[in-house]
Amino acid sequence: MSKTFVIIKPDAVAAGLVGDILGRYERAGLRIEALQLRQIDGSFADHHYVEHIEKDFYPPLRKFMISGPLVAAILSGDQAIEKVREINGATDPAQADPGTIRADHATSVRENCVHGSDSEKTAEREIALWFPELTG
Ligand code: TYD
Ligand code: MG
Repeated sequence: MSKTFVIIKPDAVAAGLVGDILGRYERAGLRIEALQLRQIDGSFADHHYVEHIEKDFYPPLRKFMISGPLVAAILSGDQAIEKVREINGATDPAQADPGTIRADHATSVRENCVHGSDSEKTAEREIALWFPELTG
């Protein structure tokens, strides 16, 4: 049993894909432990994407992530981190396996619908950042 952190990004919320995306996770046996619709500012985006802040792609990514409401969630279940990343598909939708969220819905590498934590350590850090009230 593990926990992971997920974002349904502003492109997917604007496209009306929240129900579709949450349904995919639930049908894979994952449980929603926390769920929040919110809009973040640039400094919050910097904390979330701290590992990417110096990359060339970051400034437009930052702008995209603050462009509208997003959905933040904690999911739990067996192999939650790996399951979510499998359901999400590769970062670049052109490389994503058919049937994944990104293959089905993403419009570019940047606007790729979803985020999922990449390790147990990252999941812990992201859950503490986004849901501090749930973190001891
Ligand atoms: P990354 O952590 O590499 O991908 P993932 O979300 O699959 O863990 O990158 C974080 C986000 O940065 C990615 O979801 C979309 C954006 N991004 C770009 O805009 N351009 C790029 O070339 C890359 C690699 C990522
Ligand atoms: Mg990543």
